[in-house]
Amino acid sequence: MKKFKPYDVLKSKKINYNELSNEIKYEVAILGGLDIFTDAHVRGVTNITTKICEELNMDYTRLKHIVLGAYLHDVGKIMVPNEVLQKSGKLTDEEYEIIKTHTTHGYDICMKYKELREYAPVARWHHESFDGSGYPDKLVGNQIPFEASVVKVADVYDALTRKRQYKEGFKKSQAIDIMLGDAKKDKMSSKILVHLIEYLLSELYEEITTCKKNVQEFKNNIQIMHDIEKIYKQIYDNGYTPKLVKKLKKYELAPGYDMSINANLLTVKQKALEKEEERLQFLISEEHKLQAQYDEAYTYAKKENWYPNEPYYR
Ligand SMILES: [Fe+2]
Repeated sequence: MKKFKPYDVLKSKKINYNELSNEIKYEVAILGGLDIFTDAHVRGVTNITTKICEELNMDYTRLKHIVLGAYLHDVGKIMVPNEVLQKSGKLTDEEYEIIKTHTTHGYDICMKYKELREYAPVARWHHESFDGSGYPDKLVGNQIPFEASVVKVADVYDALTRKRQYKEGFKKSQAIDIMLGDAKKDKMSSKILVHLIEYLLSELYEEITTCKKNVQEFKNNIQIMHDIEKIYKQIYDNGYTPKLVKKLKKYELAPGYDMSINANLLTVKQKALEKEEERLQFLISEEHKLQAQYDEAYTYAKKENWYPNEPYYR
C-alpha cells in the first residue's frame, strides 16, 4: 500500500490571482456577479484542484495551467439564463439540457481569446465520463484530457460537500463514498480520486492535531478552575490566611474575588470541552473511514483501464 505523507503546508504553491489576464478577470467577474454560489463553487473547485495537483508533485507551470482551467471551468454559465442557473427546485429535462450547454459556451468563450484558448478543453470536457455517458461530446476513456478529469473530480467533490440554501453539505467520507461508486462505474478517474483522498487525509491530520491541542488546553483551564475552587473552599473554612492568599496570587487573583465568575466560566469551558471532544471523535472516525476508502480507491485504481496521459503517472 502506498503510504500517504502528511500535507506539507510550506510546500504549498499558491496561485496568484494577479497573474490572471484581464480577459479572464473580466469573464470571471461577470460569472461571480451572476450567482454567488457559482462564485464560491468556482473558488472551491480551484482550491481542491490545486491540492490534487500538489499531491501529484506537479511542477508549477503544469499546476498553474490546470488550476486556471479549474478557475474557468464553468465560465460558460454566463450564457445560461439566471432563472435556470439559480432555480432551487428540481430542473425539468429541458432546463437540464440548457444547463449542459455551459460546457460548449465555455469552450466558445475560451476559444474567442488567444490567451484563454489553452483552457478551452477543461471548460468543454469537465462533465465527460470514461464510459461515454457524460456531456457534451460523450468522449470515452483517454479521449478525455487529463486536466478535465482532474477538474471533474474537484467539481463533484465541491458540489457534494458544499452547503446550499436547500441542502446540507455531505461529510468528507460521505462524498468520497459516492465518488468511489462513480469511479467503479467508470464515471470518473479513481487514479485522481486517490490523490484527492490523500489530500483530505492530510487535511484531517492537521485538524485532528489542532483539535487534540484544544481539548488539552480546555482540560488544563478546567483543572485551574477546580484548583481555584478548592482554595476558596479552604478560605471559607479558615479565612484569608497568608498561605491561601499566596496560593490565590499564583492564579493572579486577589482576596474578594467573585467566585460566581469562576463557576460561570467553568460551565462555559466544560461545555466547550464536551463539544471539542465530540468533534475530535467525529474527526477520528472520518479519518478511519477515509483511510479505508483510500485503500479501496488505491486497489481499484491499479485495476482501472484508463491511464491518464500524464508524466506524473509514469
Ligand atoms: Fe460545470
